[in-house]
Formats: sequence, structure tokens, C-alpha cells
Amino acid sequence: MRKVNLLPDLQLRLKTLISLIFFSIFLISGNSLLANISDEEDNSASEHQIHEDLQRGERFFKGLLPKDRKFETCVSCHTLHESDSLNWNPSAMDIALKYSGKDFTDFQSAVMEPNGKKMEASHKDFKIEVEDLKKVKMYLDQLAVTGPPPPGPTINMIIIFVLLGLLMTFSVLDLIFFHKIKYRFISVIILLITLGIQVYMIAEAAIGLGRSPGYAPNQPIKFSHKIHAGDNRIDCKYCHHLAEYSKSAGIPAMELCMNCHVLVREGSHSGKFEIAKVVEANETKKPVEWIRLHNLPDHVFFSHAQHVGIAKVDCKKCHGAVQEMGIMKQSSDLSMGWCINCHRQTKVNFKDNAYYDKYLKLHEDLKSGKLDTVRAVNIGANDCMRCHY
Ligand code: HEC
Ligand code: HEC
Ligand code: HEC
Ligand code: HEC
Ligand code: HEC
Ligand code: HEC
Repeated sequence: MRKVNLLPDLQLRLKTLISLIFFSIFLISGNSLLANISDEEDNSASEHQIHEDLQRGERFFKGLLPKDRKFETCVSCHTLHESDSLNWNPSAMDIALKYSGKDFTDFQSAVMEPNGKKMEASHKDFKIEVEDLKKVKMYLDQLAVTGPPPPGPTINMIIIFVLLGLLMTFSVLDLIFFHKIKYRFISVIILLITLGIQVYMIAEAAIGLGRSPGYAPNQPIKFSHKIHAGDNRIDCKYCHHLAEYSKSAGIPAMELCMNCHVLVREGSHSGKFEIAKVVEANETKKPVEWIRLHNLPDHVFFSHAQHVGIAKVDCKKCHGAVQEMGIMKQSSDLSMGWCINCHRQTKVNFKDNAYYDKYLKLHEDLKSGKLDTVRAVNIGANDCMRCHY
């Protein structure tokens, strides 16, 4: 008798356990997603006031306060997230970092006493209470430490996520206890589909935290090739003068920028903010940490001197229409096939270049008509050892 009774009892316990596990997984995953959008749970009483001020500062910056504001919200110009197109205004992070070590009065005069054309146009008619601005500074100081919030899931997605979770829980409970749905396989299908969608949503959110491919990174200074090499027709080699005679084309030092920016202190797009970074980097001699885009693997040898200095290949052939780029982006894939193809196609100006005098055999073949043109491949540019050592 006892033996027969024990089995259903155990089954029931097992069922309860399983459903509890499912339920808690659902609760935990739901909660952690929710926590992502609002870090507002901070119960420590002693920090309550600071927290409140920070929150007011944030609301003010984002334009939720004051209700009767007449000027644009700070965040509409000083954005929290980087965008894929060039935003010339300093980002929220930019101004946060600039003023994080400075006094409130510095910040106040920067915001409220605009100087320069761009600044006067952007910050005009600002009526801000000192108390409010203090809280904005607090918020920005905190931002400088924490960094911008991750692009979190939207409220809609969270609601969908929670509803799916409820559906999932229901089908689990129905499978084990209620048996309201006549055919069990329907519950199982609901369970699998909802679980699948949730996994997909989590994966999407995780991937979204990374960057999309083809993204041109925001550089520490908003340097534009379009403005310099395009609009102002500055020669590539004025800045990348190493390209002629060295392996690397090099990135210019701030001293070189200062040749012009000693005088040019305000840009028509960015105002004074970006050029001020150039001036400061030059004064402090702290190297600017440009994010490098073009990078061949270590096992490949490539020399600008060979291509630019000797073969006179135009920058454009490899780097595309740089003079039109507001933000620098890589235009060739730098694959082995790309190098090899160009070597097969590109003619070498063999006759008028003393460098090639050493290729006696090729010169003879040209004279005797055995060869009508010399291409890069003919002088060994596609030998493995030239590119791989
Ligand atoms: C006024 C100076 C200046 C001029 C003129 C200039 N550059 Fe640049 N170039 C820079 C600076 C600064 C960077 C680093 C910031 C960036 O990537 O935008 C750079 C970066 C680059 C890069 C990307 C390097 C990498 O892999 O990160 C390429 C390619 C390049 N320049 C090509 C050109 C070409 C081609 C021209 C002429 C059409 C040109 N540059 C004209 C200053 C200049
Ligand atoms: C040969 C002169 C020259 C050199 C060298 C030069 N610039 Fe400029 N730069 C200019 C001119 C001209 C402008 C345009 C000002 C305007 O917008 O009216 C400008 C504008 C800018 C702007 C603001 C763009 C805008 O429209 O708001 C930035 C930022 C800038 N330069 C950074 C640099 C950096 C970084 C370097 C060094 C890598 C550099 N510049 C080198 C001449 C130069
Ligand atoms: C219409 C766009 C716009 C709005 C709205 C705006 N700003 Fe700005 N802000 C700018 C631009 C553009 C600059 C850089 C101009 C320059 O440097 O010449 C700037 C610069 C700043 C600077 C740096 C000044 C410096 O030179 O170091 C601070 C700080 C700042 N803004 C704070 C704020 C705050 C706080 C608010 C909201 C109350 C706000 N801004 C609203 C466009 C805006
Ligand atoms: C034959 C193709 C080719 C030509 C022509 C060429 N480049 Fe490059 N460039 C490259 C490659 C490939 C890289 C990546 C090199 C590496 O990672 O070692 C590169 C990298 C760069 C960089 C990044 C810094 C460096 O040197 O690694 C700059 C800046 C640059 N090129 C500027 C120029 C300029 C300016 C010209 C014209 C004067 C030019 N390039 C002509 C292929 C070319
Ligand atoms: C736009 C065309 C073009 C592209 C793209 C190109 N090259 Fe070249 N390359 C040339 C030409 C032209 C020569 C012949 C110049 C010479 O050797 O004097 C050459 C020659 C060479 C040589 C032979 C140098 C020597 O010792 O004589 C090497 C090595 C080389 N390239 C490496 C590369 C690598 C690596 C890449 C790809 C990352 C590449 N090239 C992409 C045009 C190109
Ligand atoms: C003109 C220059 C050039 C020549 C010549 C060349 N390679 Fe490459 N090779 C490259 C470049 C550039 C890469 C890197 C490609 C990348 O990162 O996608 C590469 C990559 C490779 C790789 C690594 C594969 C990979 O996907 O990373 C191997 C293996 C290789 N080459 C073998 C050879 C052999 C064998 C030869 C002779 C038949 C040769 N290469 C000739 C430029 C060259």
C-alpha cells in the first residue's frame, strides 16, 4: 500500500519543484532586464538627498524639467549616445569630462555666458536657476564616472518579454497542474515558442550592445577630412608627409595642426569646443588617442614609400574619396586578393623612373617587343616573400 502511494507524492513534489524553477528563472530574467532601464532602486536613506538631486539634474538635462521651459533641452544637442552620422555638438560625455574636475562657477559661466558665434547661437535665451544648474553639474559629474547608459531595451520590448514569460509560466503550470488545455502537445508548443522568442530577444539585446559592422568610430577630436582635404584643399601629404618615404603614412602630431589653428580657433560646425581640444593637447603634449582603422595583420608587410614614393600610386586608389569623408572610414577590405589583383592590373611607369633601372632583363624585353607593358606583378610584387616574411 505505502509503496503505491509514494510514487504520485514524489511526482507531485517534482512537478512543483520544476514549476518553481521555471518561475524563478522567469522572474530573474525579467527583473534583470527591468533593472537595465531604471537604476532607480537605491534605498539607502543617507544617500537619498544626493540621489534626488542627481535625478533632478538628469531630468533637467533631458528636458523633463522645468515644465515651462522655452529653450531646447540640453540632451537634444548634447546627446548621450554616439550616432552613426557626425554630430558636431559636443556630446554629453564630452562636456561631462571637460568639467568634471572643475568648479561649478567655471561650468556656470561656460553655459550662461556664451562666447563665440556657435555658442551664442546655441545657448541663447537660457534662463536657468542656479540651483537647477548645480544639479545638472552633479548629474554630469556622475556621468563622467559611470559613462553613458548602455542602449537598453525599450519599454515595449520589456512588456512583450513579460507577457511571453506569463504565457510560458501558464503553459508550464497547465502541463503539470491544471490540465485546462485538452491536448498536452499544445502546451508544449506554446512553451517552446515563447521560450524561443525570449532567447532570441535576449540574444538580440546582447548583440545590440556591440557595434554594427561598417561603423566608423567617433574619434577623440572631430577631425574632418572633408573640411581639410576637401573644402580647404589641403594636400594629403601636408599632414601624412611620411607616406612618401616611410613604411607608415603616420598621423600628424598636434604641432602640425597648430600651424593653422594658432589662428583658426572656431570652426563653423563645431564652434570652439573641438579646436580647443587641439590647443590643449598641444599644450599638455598628451598624445591624442586616435582610433586606428586600417590595420593589416602582423604577417603582412606593406610600405607606403614603395607605393606612394616610388610607384606614385594615388592615395585615392586605396583609400577612396577621403576628401569627402566627414568621418574617416575604411574603403578597401585590405584582403590579399585586393593587393594581388591590383598588382596584376597596375602598369608601372617603367621608363621614366630611375628606381627601375635595375631591372635590366625587363628593359631588354620591352625594347625587343617581347613585353609591351610592365605591371607590378612583373617586378615580383606577387611573390609570397615580398609580402610575407
Ligand atoms: C590636416 C591634416 C590632414 C590632411 C590634410 C589629411 N589627413 Fe588623413 N588623417 C589626419 C588625421 C588627424 C587622422 C586621424 C583621425 C581620423 O582617422 O580621422 C587621419 C587619418 C587618415 C586615415 C586613416 C588612418 C587609420 O587607419 O586610422 C587615412 C587613410 C587618411 N587619413 C588618408 C588621407 C588622405 C588620402 C588625405 C588626402 C585626401 C588625407 N588623409 C588628408 C589628418 C589629415
Ligand atoms: C593648413 C591649415 C590647417 C591645418 C594644418 C589643420 N587645420 Fe583644422 N581647420 C582649418 C580650417 C581652415 C578650418 C575651417 C574653419 C571653419 O570651419 O571655418 C579647420 C577646422 C577644423 C575643425 C573644426 C571643424 C568645424 O567646421 O567645426 C577642427 C576640429 C579641426 N580643424 C581640427 C584639426 C586637427 C586635429 C588638425 C591636425 C591634425 C588640423 N585641424 C589641421 C585649417 C587647418
Ligand atoms: C541648440 C543646441 C544646444 C543646446 C540646447 C545646449 N547646448 Fe550646450 N553647447 C552647444 C554647442 C554647439 C556647444 C559648443 C560651442 C562652442 O564650443 O563654440 C555647447 C557647449 C556647451 C558646453 C561647453 C562650453 C565650453 O566651451 O567648454 C557646456 C558645459 C554646455 N554646452 C552645457 C549645456 C547645458 C547644461 C545645456 C542645457 C541647459 C546645453 N548646453 C544646451 C549646443 C547646445
Ligand atoms: C597601394 C595602396 C595604398 C596607397 C596608394 C596608400 N595607402 Fe595608406 N594604407 C594602405 C594600407 C594597406 C594601410 C594599412 C597599413 C598597415 O596596417 O600596416 C594604410 C594605412 C594608412 C594610414 C594609417 C597609418 C599607417 O600608416 O598605417 C594612413 C594615415 C594612410 N594610409 C594614408 C595614406 C595617404 C595620405 C596616402 C597617399 C599619400 C596613402 N595612404 C596611400 C594602403 C595604401
Ligand atoms: C592600387 C594598386 C595597388 C594595391 C591595392 C596594392 N599595391 Fe602593392 N604595388 C602596386 C604597384 C604599382 C607596385 C609596383 C611598385 C614597385 O614595386 O615599385 C606594387 C608593389 C608592391 C610590392 C613590391 C615592392 C618591391 O619590393 O618591389 C609589395 C611588397 C606590395 N606592393 C605590397 C602590397 C600589399 C601588401 C598590398 C595590400 C595590402 C598592396 N601592395 C596593394 C600597386 C598596388
Ligand atoms: C601583395 C601582397 C601579398 C602577396 C604577394 C601574398 N600575400 Fe598572402 N596575404 C596578404 C595579405 C594583405 C593578407 C592578409 C589578408 C587579411 O587579413 O584578410 C595575406 C594573408 C595570407 C595568409 C593568411 C590567410 C588568412 O586568411 O589570414 C596566408 C596563408 C597567405 N597570405 C599566403 C600567401 C602565399 C602562399 C603567397 C604566395 C603565393 C602570398 N600569401 C602572397 C598579402 C599578400
